[in-house]
Amino acid sequence: MQNTHPPAGTVVRRLWSTDRDAVVALFRSLDPGSRFDRFMGAVSETAAAAYAARAISAEGLIVGAFTNGTLCGVGELRPAGRAAEAELAFAVAPGHRGQGLGAALGARLAQAARNGGTRRLHLRCLAGNRPMRALARRLGAEFGTGSREIHAVLALSPPTAFSLWSEGVGSLFDVAAAASAAWPVLPVV
Ligand SMILES: CC(C)(COP(=O)(O)OP(=O)(O)OC[C@H]1O[C@@H](n2cnc3c(N)ncnc32)[C@H](O)[C@@H]1OP(=O)(O)O)[C@@H](O)C(=O)NCCC(=O)NCCS
Repeated sequence: MQNTHPPAGTVVRRLWSTDRDAVVALFRSLDPGSRFDRFMGAVSETAAAAYAARAISAEGLIVGAFTNGTLCGVGELRPAGRAAEAELAFAVAPGHRGQGLGAALGARLAQAARNGGTRRLHLRCLAGNRPMRALARRLGAEFGTGSREIHAVLALSPPTAFSLWSEGVGSLFDVAAAASAAWPVLPVV
């Protein structure tokens, strides 16, 4: 995997129920082409918002990238139906693409999946989705063949003491960052 550090000033963390409205707003901000790419088919803004409202409590893990406190991208890790396999999906707000947010979200999810015992991550997109193909390549996924859809697989090695420790430290920051966003410290007067 190439360097996937988020750009300076960006926080990547797990999303909680307090982030639900921001996730809905992000999916609502997607233009029709982006929605088509994300869901690999035509989906209305209302349907995308309904999906987003359920995304935090759905099975799996959802992480977000925040720039200056605003949610600009989400990455989802979802079960793929077979043991030790899972699927990744992404949505980055149109004005924030090409800055490494997708790669940072993908790296964070791949780490969590690896530590949770997942050995194969599936990434799917339409064949014409060049940014997603580039993102899958950047994460180190191997591409299969396909004409309308691209299916790439990222093989994960078993967890190590370091990968578990590193995720544990990240989780502590997640809780602190989410808590300070939900309950900002009031100025002392
Ligand atoms: C796919 C998507 C998540 C990428 O997010 P991003 O934050 O722009 O990704 P990054 O900035 O981390 O860039 C990842 C790679 O894509 C490349 N890329 C970004 N925008 C690109 C564009 N418009 N055209 C071609 N490549 C592009 C980057 O150069 C990078 O490749 P590199 O590592 O070879 O330099 C974003 O475009 C998106 O949300 N699209 C709509 C929803 C979607 O298609 N989801 C994927 C299916 S689930």
